[in-house]
Amino acid sequence: MLSPDIKNEISQKIIASRQIAILTGAGISAESGIPTFRGNGGHWKNFRAEELATPDAFRRDPKLVWEWYEMRRSICKKSLPNPGHIAIAELEKQNSSKKFHLFTQNVDGLHRQAGSKKLTELHGNIFTGRCTKCNHIEENLDTPLSTLPPPCPQCSSPMRPHILWFGETYDPKMLENSIEFLRNSDLILIIGTSGQVTVPVYLAQEAIQAGAFSVEINPEESTLTSSVDISLRGKSGEILPQII
Ligand code: APR
Repeated sequence: MLSPDIKNEISQKIIASRQIAILTGAGISAESGIPTFRGNGGHWKNFRAEELATPDAFRRDPKLVWEWYEMRRSICKKSLPNPGHIAIAELEKQNSSKKFHLFTQNVDGLHRQAGSKKLTELHGNIFTGRCTKCNHIEENLDTPLSTLPPPCPQCSSPMRPHILWFGETYDPKMLENSIEFLRNSDLILIIGTSGQVTVPVYLAQEAIQAGAFSVEINPEESTLTSSVDISLRGKSGEILPQII
């Protein structure tokens, strides 16, 4: 249980804030049954992600890459938002009159399912495909897919997962808008990320350096722990509902 003082301090900061940013990582989906990549219990070690989540891997063997994503998509499809996702969607509703934005590194779609609307999926979405030829974006791809790779409904060329792969660059406009928002936020909640990926960490640091009050929720320390105002050791599905 959170101490009343901590709960009160964070609640007061939320009430007083005029622009709220939230950054989430795989940890917020752990209680939905989706394994994280690193940290305790992370499944990244078993995955050959660096060999699979890359443009080269897709060029070499698109079917193998899609088979890997089909396995991950089936896990995500069976997963439901947990109290942490729901609390964040509730926080957005409670602060509808303020500037509020959620930046997630997760591709599992659980924030959308929980009702979050003001959302940027920094690394894409596992249920969305993108045509390798005409760049058509197809949301809510069937799971499981009948053909691998799935053909683009517009031009029949093979589609790829609409996910940011190792070695690829973030959409410049999205990045510019994200940095702008973070620089103008006066409160940032950092939830369930180990802080190992450069751009999301940079976004969080931009808010902190601009003077935002920062709160982290993570059972373990992360690379951001030493930078934040309050770092809560615990599960987001248990802590967030107490705050919200
Ligand atoms: N509540 C909150 N945090 C949790 C929970 C939980 N119930 N369970 C685990 N965590 C924390 C872990 O302690 C760890 O610090 O979640 C964090 C997950 O870290 P990672 O597995 O590294 O995931 P993430 O930080 O999101 O990785 C960022 O790396 O591989 C790329 O693109 C991939 O988006 C991913 C990015």
